[in-house]
Order: sequence, then C-alpha cells, then structure tokens
Amino acid sequence: MLHPIIKAFFHHDSSTLTYIVHCQRTKKCCVIDAALDYDIYSGDISSSPLEEITHYIMTNELDVEWLLETHAHADHVTGARQLKEKVGGTIAVGVGIRDVQQSVKTMLHLKDDVLTTHVFDRLLEDGQSLELGDLTINVIATPGHTPDSLTYVIGNSAFVGDTLFMPDSGSARCDFPSGSAATLYQSIQRIYQLGDNTRLFMCHDYRPQGRELAYITTVAEQKQHNIQINASVSEQEYVQIRETRDAKLAIPRLLYPALQVNIRGGYLPAPEDNGQCYIKMPMQLI
Ligand SMILES: [Fe+2]
Repeated sequence: MLHPIIKAFFHHDSSTLTYIVHCQRTKKCCVIDAALDYDIYSGDISSSPLEEITHYIMTNELDVEWLLETHAHADHVTGARQLKEKVGGTIAVGVGIRDVQQSVKTMLHLKDDVLTTHVFDRLLEDGQSLELGDLTINVIATPGHTPDSLTYVIGNSAFVGDTLFMPDSGSARCDFPSGSAATLYQSIQRIYQLGDNTRLFMCHDYRPQGRELAYITTVAEQKQHNIQINASVSEQEYVQIRETRDAKLAIPRLLYPALQVNIRGGYLPAPEDNGQCYIKMPMQLI
C-alpha cells in the first residue's frame, strides 16, 4: 500500500486541523478543511491562515488537485474558495450538502438561491474514489454530526472530519439541524471497521485540561480508550451520552456566518443594492 505524505496546520481560532496530503512521486496534493479567520464583531474575513498553507505548497512544488471539505463547518469559514483562487484545485464536498443547505435555508428563512450546488465543483458520494497521483482517496459517508459528513481514506490514513475527536475528547456533537447521534454511532462503526492499525486524523483538537495539541490516533486506540464511544459502548448508551452532552453545549460562536458562507461553497451571500454583503441571525426574546 502506498502511503501519503501528510502535513498538518492548526487554525488556533477554531481549533481546526487543515491537512495537506501529497503523493511523493507526482507531487499531486489535496488540501482538507482549510479555514479563514472571521472577526465576529466587524464581519471581516481574513485569508491570513492560508499563507503558511500556500507557502508549503509552493516550497514543496506541489500540484493542488483537490480542495476537500469533510463537511459544512459551523465553527469557521472555509478557506477552499480563496485557496482555489491562489493555487487551483477542485472543491469537493459530500452530496449531503443539499440537506445542510435545506436545513440552513429553513432555519434562517433564506432565499431559494442558497440551494444551488453549482458553487461546488464536485459532490461526492459514499464509495467513490478520487485519484491523487499514485494514491487513491476513498470516500466514506460518515453522517451524524451533519448529513454531508465524509471521511477520506488515503493509504492507511483516514481523515475523519467531525466524527471522532481524540480519545480523551470523545466525539462531535449531533444537535445541528439534521444531525443524529444514532447515525453518528453507525458512521463511527464504519471507521472502526477500517482496521485497528488505521491512523485517524482529527479535524479538531480542543486540548482538554491544557494538554499538548494532539490530532493523530488509531482505530485501536479509539476502540480502547474513547471516553464516549469505545468498543464496549452500545448504540443506545452512546445516544444517551451524546444527547445529554449536546443539551448542555452552547451554540458555536460563528455558527451563523460560517454556515451561510460554507453552504455557498465559500462565496459570500449576494451583495444588497448598496454593494454590501450581510449575514442573517435569528433573534428572539426569552
Ligand atoms: Fe463540524
């Protein structure tokens, strides 16, 4: 089995890991889950987190083939669109993005134009494979956190998005629209079936109790030690653990701006007649 070369970048503001994965011989690469900075107070978006990513691509003379999203993120604005403008590449996301678009449209009473999938270059389905030089990217649908969630398997490395976190942190929340703890349980079983030695690359690490940043684990370690979903946890137990935890979680700080950009493939909402783009947020008296 051919193994990829993997480089991780940490986006501090959202605790997101971005990965560049490349084929040693052909230098073809994919970038998984690039993030931008977003200032919640001003609405300013900055592509400065992409600088070290593009620097790495340039200095290693990589040829960007794919800009992959593991899902429509609710905690950061995707950097895939800006990256495509800088270094090229095909933006791909799970076909379940249609469900996410529909949910966000309903939640925020958006116009129908948000439902277009033409803003993405490719919609990916479970079981598809993509070429990356001498490597193959195998696509596994792993919904539950969101309906569009995908895991990308390259060699013996799996990029699991927001399914699992490191063993001391458990798993991703399932309380977003169209999320489901039972579905995530089944998705995680599929990841566990990849085999004990499969390396798992996290999309987030929140460094519990101030421990060092960690983002690589294995199926074996997760099955033994995951605090929410090790091998001895039943679906029923997991759903109860997950839903109890989700009930206590605050809404992500960037939920509304992030989703409104990310379901549009990284484009901002259409400008109003004064030329300015705006985001919507629900308000209610409680
Ligand atoms: Fe997420």
